[in-house]
Amino acid sequence: MRWTMPPDRVPEAWFNIVPRLSQPIDPPLHPGTRQPAGPQDLAPLFPMALILQEVSTDPWIDIPGPVLDVLRLWRPTPLIRARRLEQALDTPARIYYKDESVSPAGSHKPNTAVPQAYYNHEEGIKRIATETGAGQWGSALAFSCSLFGLTCKVYMVRASYQQKPYRRLMIETWGGEVVPSPVDQPDSPGSLGMAISDAVRDAGSREDTHYSLGSVLNHVLLHQTVIGLEAKEQLQLAGEEKPDLVIGCCGGGSNLGGLALPFVADEGVELLAVEPTSCATLTTGKFEYDFGDTAGLTPLLSMYTLGHDFVPPSIHAGGLRYHGDAPIISNLVHTGRMRASAYNQTAVFEAAIQWARTQGTIPAPETAHAIKATIDAALQAREEGKEKVILFGYSGHGLLDLQAYDDFLTGKLAGT
Ligand SMILES: Cc1ncc(COP(=O)(O)O)c(C=O)c1O
Repeated sequence: MRWTMPPDRVPEAWFNIVPRLSQPIDPPLHPGTRQPAGPQDLAPLFPMALILQEVSTDPWIDIPGPVLDVLRLWRPTPLIRARRLEQALDTPARIYYKDESVSPAGSHKPNTAVPQAYYNHEEGIKRIATETGAGQWGSALAFSCSLFGLTCKVYMVRASYQQKPYRRLMIETWGGEVVPSPVDQPDSPGSLGMAISDAVRDAGSREDTHYSLGSVLNHVLLHQTVIGLEAKEQLQLAGEEKPDLVIGCCGGGSNLGGLALPFVADEGVELLAVEPTSCATLTTGKFEYDFGDTAGLTPLLSMYTLGHDFVPPSIHAGGLRYHGDAPIISNLVHTGRMRASAYNQTAVFEAAIQWARTQGTIPAPETAHAIKATIDAALQAREEGKEKVILFGYSGHGLLDLQAYDDFLTGKLAGT
């Protein structure tokens, strides 16, 4: 069963959680002075429209018409009830998922890549530099840049650049240029933190270039709230008053934030972040100021962090290998509004296989973390005999991650 809506039902404003948080969010600090960073400090890297969104306390922010026109290529995304999984688990829980894998790039990432490319284009910027782990973000930004006539330069974590040629080819198909990172250490497998340093250096050195980040920052989570806003409306169409539990995998926190933030004020709705045990930022990290990148070039953010020089093991869920977390997600976990849990890679792939063999689709390894937590919650509902309504974010498909499935099926997957 699925609930779709026509293109004219894409939300026309983004939902801003910042003015509604129970405790205000700590401001970013300038990396040199360690004083609160003002809009002018961020201007070499981002267009002013995004900087103003980053610090905005307006409860709603209008989505520009040209952005809506592009989002309507695939939005609203479907809300689907996972009946076959429910039956396989013999659970009284009703499981719904919001399918973000239907975007051109195959994940939720274009929801923010499109407005980021648009605002840069409006400010006269010609070129954007960014980082990418496994290639999901890089491909989403290359797609978006191609629509607004911008050049896109992607610093791709070297291990993925070598192991995952297909996302690299997607970036090139959309006209982007990809290089392995770190650029100055050809023997290093790289990390997201190092690739961010490369991209920030590039943007800082050229007048025509800005930097773009695919997760973590307030404006990125803001753009992703179309997911949760649509899901709320679709749940009503499905006859559900509200979900009991909202689940999302969490790397930097953007798909989880996009789905969960519109539910924060709703009483009785539990929110759950799911992360890998090998990069368990929310469940084992410290809540403190830290840099967003390895070299210490970005502003310091108040977040859960494993330390900016932490290099996570190379698990297949490349998008969850980040040492920090969005300040908004960190704030919600710190104040107790959101819970977090962690799973190891083997358990996650067992869940992905169970999903593929009941629901049919093959999830991204990142998404499979949310599926694992959903299965556990549905089994708990069975034990308790409770009719729980579970909503989770299906953040992307895994059709370009089949090597990971091969590793699992042939017993070669590390259990980290
Ligand atoms: C399919 C998918 N899901 C989830 C994530 C995690 O990112 P975030 O926590 O920002 O949603 C990524 C990041 O690359 C991804 O590609």
